Amino acid sequence: MSIILEAKNIYKTFDETEILSNINLSIKENSSIAIIGASGEGKTTLLHILGTLERPTKGNIYICNKPIKDVNILRNTFFGFIFQSYNLFEDLTILENVILPAKIARKNYIKKAISLLKELNLENKKDYPTKILSGGEKQRVAIARAFCLDPKIILADEPTGNLDSKNSEKIHHLLLNFVNKKNKSLILVTHDEELASFCDEKFILKRGKLIKKEQS
Ligand SMILES: Nc1ncnc2c1ncn2[C@@H]1O[C@H](COP(=O)(O)OP(=O)(O)OP(=O)(O)O)[C@@H](O)[C@H]1O
Ligand SMILES: [Mg+2]
Repeated sequence: MSIILEAKNIYKTFDETEILSNINLSIKENSSIAIIGASGEGKTTLLHILGTLERPTKGNIYICNKPIKDVNILRNTFFGFIFQSYNLFEDLTILENVILPAKIARKNYIKKAISLLKELNLENKKDYPTKILSGGEKQRVAIARAFCLDPKIILADEPTGNLDSKNSEKIHHLLLNFVNKKNKSLILVTHDEELASFCDEKFILKRGKLIKKEQS
């Protein structure tokens, strides 16, 4: 399996505080990585750097062995993002939210969006405003949006942090099944050790260092 994303010697400093210190990580095609760590350790910062939403203070990100600056790709066609707080536009309809990244990329993905909503059991609500949905339903919309442009990697930042344990488990399984079924790679930030063990590799972020944890 080839490496599709690689972080080399990544450092991040905010206001002279070093949050990330010499992080090295690579992710292969069709594989999954979990990153766990206490609040404030820099998990979101690392995920944003890996997804090229934020720049590292030092170090480089490589996509398919090329430095990111040499890669002529649209961020949202390579990465699909799922956030803890959904980041949906509450006044747009469900379908409008799902196709938003495609619109930005100037692509017509309506058929794809509807078929994803069907798979996620939301097709009958596609024209409803997003604000009427439950937390679990909103996160399913966010999953559909992340997969809509058929990205290579899904980056999920505590995707069930706002859900109760029953819904959280449902969304976890749904996300992992979707990633497997659609042959995506996954980088998942989570507090949930059990969920982390479903991933191929598990890392802990602590005091700026990323430490690989052997699966038990
Ligand atoms: N833009 C910024 N400017 C200054 N400090 C920042 C900025 N972004 C993050 N930080 C700081 O970096 C540290 C790590 O933040 P981050 O959000 O990455 O942590 P986290 O591990 O995701 O935490 P949580 O589990 O609570 O989401 C925090 O102390 C935060 O205040
Ligand atoms: Mg965070």
